[in-house]
Amino acid sequence: MKSRLVPVAGVLLLGAVPLAQAADLSKPNGEMLSHTCAACHGTYGHFDDDYMPPLAGMSEERFVDSMIAFRNGSRPASIMDRVAKAFTDEEIEAMAEFFAAQQDEEVTP
Ligand code: HEC
Repeated sequence: MKSRLVPVAGVLLLGAVPLAQAADLSKPNGEMLSHTCAACHGTYGHFDDDYMPPLAGMSEERFVDSMIAFRNGSRPASIMDRVAKAFTDEEIEAMAEFFAAQQDEEVTP
């Protein structure tokens, strides 16, 4: 009986080509992390009302200070104390950079 394994071996070899150009997952991705904030702060932080200033365009310093204060409980919060506890310093910095780079304007997603 003839072997049917030869074509299969070829496919397996193709599959072994290294994953070039894969996303750099060694550092936190600010844009990706920002999606968890969109429900309350709008897409990419573009939600503005009388109660909350938009995250989009917020200075990195103010963003980091706010998140650290929420996390350590020094700034009173209804919900952000719990949200902020989920993130490391590195992740907060990545988000700060991302939000600061967004245009501070209302956008339609
Ligand atoms: C469930 C709704 C909700 C989610 C999700 C949420 N926030 Fe908030 N955020 C709030 C509310 C409400 C406040 C006002 C403070 C409070 O009462 O907790 C706030 C305030 C803030 C502030 C302070 C703004 C200022 O006045 O200086 C920052 C910064 C912030 N949020 C960042 C984030 C980031 C970053 C995420 C995602 C990782 C996020 N929030 C997710 C509801 C939310």
